[in-house]
Amino acid sequence: MARARGNQMLWLVCAVASMLCVSSPAEGGVGVNWGTMMSHQMLPTAVVAMLKANGIKKVKLFDADHWTVSALAGSGIEVMVAIPNDQLRRMTRYDSAREWVKQNVTRYSFRGGVNIKYVAVGNEPFLKSYNGSFLKTTLPALKNIQRALDEAGLGRKIKATVPLNADVYDSPAENPVPSAGDFRRDIHEVMLRIVKFLRANSAPFVVNIYPFLSLYQNPHFPFDFAFFDGSRRSFSDRGIRYTNVFDANFDTLVWSLRKAGAGDLKIIVGEVGWPTDGDKNANPVNARRFYAGMLRKLTGKKGTPLRPGKIDVYFFGLIDEDLKSILPGAFERHWGIFRYDGKPKFPMDLHGRGRDRYLVAVKKVEYLPARWCVFNEEAKNLKQLAASVNYACSNGDCTSLGYGSSCNNLGARGNISYAFNMYFQMQDQDVRACDFQGLAKITPKNASRGGCLFPVQVMSGGRRAAPAVLVPVLTTMALAISWYIF
Ligand SMILES: *[C@@H]1O[C@H](CO)[C@@H](O)[C@H](O)[C@H]1NC(C)=O
Ligand SMILES: *[C@@H]1O[C@H](CO)[C@@H](O)[C@H](O)[C@H]1NC(C)=O
Ligand SMILES: *[C@@H]1O[C@H](CO)[C@@H](O)[C@H](O)[C@H]1NC(C)=O
Ligand SMILES: *[C@@H]1O[C@H](CO)[C@@H](O)[C@H](O)[C@H]1NC(C)=O
Repeated sequence: MARARGNQMLWLVCAVASMLCVSSPAEGGVGVNWGTMMSHQMLPTAVVAMLKANGIKKVKLFDADHWTVSALAGSGIEVMVAIPNDQLRRMTRYDSAREWVKQNVTRYSFRGGVNIKYVAVGNEPFLKSYNGSFLKTTLPALKNIQRALDEAGLGRKIKATVPLNADVYDSPAENPVPSAGDFRRDIHEVMLRIVKFLRANSAPFVVNIYPFLSLYQNPHFPFDFAFFDGSRRSFSDRGIRYTNVFDANFDTLVWSLRKAGAGDLKIIVGEVGWPTDGDKNANPVNARRFYAGMLRKLTGKKGTPLRPGKIDVYFFGLIDEDLKSILPGAFERHWGIFRYDGKPKFPMDLHGRGRDRYLVAVKKVEYLPARWCVFNEEAKNLKQLAASVNYACSNGDCTSLGYGSSCNNLGARGNISYAFNMYFQMQDQDVRACDFQGLAKITPKNASRGGCLFPVQVMSGGRRAAPAVLVPVLTTMALAISWYIF
């Protein structure tokens, strides 16, 4: 009751002074994962301005790219920088870890610098599909990075941790309840050592939880159980009723930690979200429903049955990434709450009060000319057609064409045009990318139809940035930029 009234009061204050609320939203502050595996990046400074305009106060990165990290300087936004998995082996040497911290953390640690709070050591390194490749290097790397942070005098404020997929723990198939959960058998020992180390350093356990994948991977999964607005398919575990898979999954981790003697370890949800395309369940309607439920939960500080209260969460992800591997599924390139061009995809309320509206878009985004590449109806020789479409799709992005996706009803010719256009746009509308031996042609007529967007790409941020950063360019920045120009 008191909480509900509190929210109403807060709302009143917002209505009176809406500016105030733009700068102090979602209890605890929702975080976002800012991945950059895209063919066309917007200017990091423009993205940071958008984060601020929306009151987003925490970001999690997948590397420590200087271009991105330096854009966060002075923003006050709390940052988790990261060491990619392929660097873990290198970090098992203390000297390398110390250099990494010096170049990627200490460097930004000044007044008006970057508010780095965590260093993510690896990203889901114990994923089953990695076959144990990072089993031996992860913990030594974690220890070295924390030691380097400590020796740089930053260890009290900045904690090293390892974002792990929820597949590091499970419950037995014959008793799939949270209380039966424990860390996976093949990594049990290393998980206990990691947990012990995190606890000794007051560092959090970071876990990625994906209700969408529960649904995707199991055709019998009860649909409503993936969301937060009630499901008839609830179940009980030791007197606790579970009505959604997120709570059940999170509490399975709590049980696993208890069994590891660390029931009080702080937990951060490093990734949680819902994709909007590339699968029959991936669309803006379901994504909006999922985020609305999640945000209500966060604002209400409900937590989970075993961890009531505030939960720290980073949404996955910020912007669509068209270069992500689609091995896990075509939806991989559609996790953004923002489109490739920084426009919000669906309304949401970061305050969790159900007052959904579109978030503020990235400003000053410049597009390539309004033209498209489509199938040339006059083409005579169609022999190379299949091979051309294949080429366009494997070097472009055809993930919206599949069953249940936004461009699934285009028909054969529509499919061909879509593939050609995606390739053409990805190639910065280079005329040579719209030929395919006469099978393709450029048109000024918008080729979008129905719910299917034929996008016009944006100008890569790097291009626009080139003249602007001529002043004190740092070598790595110049390198990053020239890479985008050529
Ligand atoms: C700092 O991070 C960048 C970007 O992730 C990486 O390329 C570089 O190697 C790191 N520096 C050191 C000294 O390891
Ligand atoms: C893991 O093993 C599978 C099956 O043997 C193989 O297809 C896959 O490429 C391996 N992955 C890695 C990262 O080594
Ligand atoms: C268009 O492509 C999609 C994805 O490959 C496929 O499911 C669909 O059947 C194609 N349509 C036609 C008419 O070929
Ligand atoms: C093309 O049409 C679609 C659908 O009507 C629209 O969303 C998009 O903005 C248009 N693109 C351009 C560049 O006008």
